[in-house]
Amino acid sequence: LYHFEDGLPKLPVPPLQQTLDMYLKCMSHLIPEEQFKKTKAIVEKFGAPGGMGEFLQKKLVERSEHKANWVYDYWLEDMYLSNRLALPVNSSPVMVFPKQNFTSHSDTLRFAAHLISGVLEYKSLIDGRALPVDYARGQLAGTPLCMDQYNKVFTSYRLPGAKMDTLVAQKSTVMPEPEHIIVACKNQFFVLDVVINFRRLNEKDLYTQLERIRKMADIEEERLPPIGLLTSDDRTQWAEARSVLIKDSTNRDSLDMIERCLCLVCLDEPSGTELTDTNRALLMLHGGGMDKNGGNRWYDKPMQFVIGADGCCGVVCEHSPFEGIVLVQCSEYLLRYMRGSPSKLVRAASMSELPAPRRLRWKCSPDIQAFLTASADKLQRLVKNLDMNVNKFTGYGKEFIKKQKMSPDAYIQVALQFTFYRCHGRLVPTYESASIRRFQEGRVDNIRSSTPEALAFVKAMANSSKITDAEKMELLWTAIKAQTNYTILAITGMAIDNHLLGLREIAKELKLEKPELFSDTTYATSIHFILSTSQVPTTEEMFCCYGPVVPNGYGACYNPQTDHIIFCVSSFRDSAETSSDLFVKTLEGCLKEMQH
Ligand code: COA
Repeated sequence: LYHFEDGLPKLPVPPLQQTLDMYLKCMSHLIPEEQFKKTKAIVEKFGAPGGMGEFLQKKLVERSEHKANWVYDYWLEDMYLSNRLALPVNSSPVMVFPKQNFTSHSDTLRFAAHLISGVLEYKSLIDGRALPVDYARGQLAGTPLCMDQYNKVFTSYRLPGAKMDTLVAQKSTVMPEPEHIIVACKNQFFVLDVVINFRRLNEKDLYTQLERIRKMADIEEERLPPIGLLTSDDRTQWAEARSVLIKDSTNRDSLDMIERCLCLVCLDEPSGTELTDTNRALLMLHGGGMDKNGGNRWYDKPMQFVIGADGCCGVVCEHSPFEGIVLVQCSEYLLRYMRGSPSKLVRAASMSELPAPRRLRWKCSPDIQAFLTASADKLQRLVKNLDMNVNKFTGYGKEFIKKQKMSPDAYIQVALQFTFYRCHGRLVPTYESASIRRFQEGRVDNIRSSTPEALAFVKAMANSSKITDAEKMELLWTAIKAQTNYTILAITGMAIDNHLLGLREIAKELKLEKPELFSDTTYATSIHFILSTSQVPTTEEMFCCYGPVVPNGYGACYNPQTDHIIFCVSSFRDSAETSSDLFVKTLEGCLKEMQH
């Protein structure tokens, strides 16, 4: 089923002039006229025949000849590994499951055992290369997509570094080697071996082991400090704390077990909050801080399945190894698995003498205690700062938009632009993730949705009395067409963000002076994404969300369904410019006006 992989085309390097023209077009209406004039001159100099641009382009083309994907390493470093911000809220997206109704601890553990069984099934599909290949849907549907990201779901670890993190990958194998997951419970970490004597534990075994873990976690005298909090800190701080931690061999062994595990299962305490969609999203994004389940996490691991005693469940995902779409596929498999294969707890026989799960030990020096206090404080600030609003817009869904012969994604993007304009009176550089998995090792590029055509439309809508409905309709069509065209450029590898990044990074690699194009303020503005958006559609009842990527920005994740659209809007309370509630309320109005 993976036979397409080697045959997938390589990501092309777009023509230089096309990217430079597009860059100017994307920024012309978002910056003051004087600044634009200056930028235009800089870009023209860069792109002149025999100039720096041509030279770097040639080098980039050479790079593309001997790499499966010329942008992958540059992109991974820029997007994730060199980003120093804390992973929760700032980087790690989450999937929020429907609220579960657990009536007892054993109910919760039964759910956990069932889910872990599903994880093991899914992992064996990945290892056996037996997952059905994904195919592109929507625009330019039907092409097979690169499956590489799936191999990293249970085998990666993001190691913090002083200047840059490292994405460590373990080799995965088909043989049932000793394998373990880490169970977090009451801020303690336990090793749960899931393959013992070459045999995978069945659900009853898993349940037995989880019960033992629960009992061990209850012993108050044995509780150790909430070391997981350190992983919620910014990356440089966590790297520093880790370098102190590993001086002790006990800590080294514990870290090693976590770094090599398949995934985490976090058995959370009840949060004591009403479990609305918004509150579940918040709890999933940051655990509710130190007083709640903030320490019951290990953010460096790509997959953390959270199972709250109060029914608040979902997945927290370290984003560097794969995209949200892979997270959705895995989560949907698990939910379907749990629905389709009733719990086998009653029938299965448990192994008679399973070795007891082990608690991971930590030696906590006063230095580590100080790091922990600082990490807890910072997480608390993040918790207080996150302003989230999850809203199900029920006015209509993608069916209505399709009936107008418009692309639902383009329409929603234009609606987000309209909303931003209505809230702030201007448009800003916007990021929409576009999958480039049609290419080998493809991840994403950016659709810059704040097009000049979108600006013309939103201005007309704001000026309602002076412009006729027919004119507005015309402008809406033009905006949607521009957005759809950009989408097609992006998914065929012809967008500008990866290309500009490549030109910037190859200059750095060749130790050349930074081209003026990249020290120009317009470039800094162009990559400060005040509006960071992403379509993450699901077929099961769940939703994805994430935080803003800049202090004065919004994160806007949407999940279009047939007759409704789920919007998850986030921002930071300490920014005087933003308000998630206002944004969502305005969005409702804008969607209705656009329908009209
Ligand atoms: N008239 C009628 N129907 C139309 C239409 C039109 N003019 N244009 C599109 N449609 C239909 C499509 O055929 C599709 O139908 P389906 O639901 O039966 O599949 C549906 O509308 C959706 O298409 P569209 O809204 O255009 O979006 P898309 O599915 O092509 O998605 C992107 C666009 C950019 C979101 C997508 O290409 C992508 O890259 N997704 C990945 C994003 C990502 O990585 N997110 C996670 C980041 S962590």
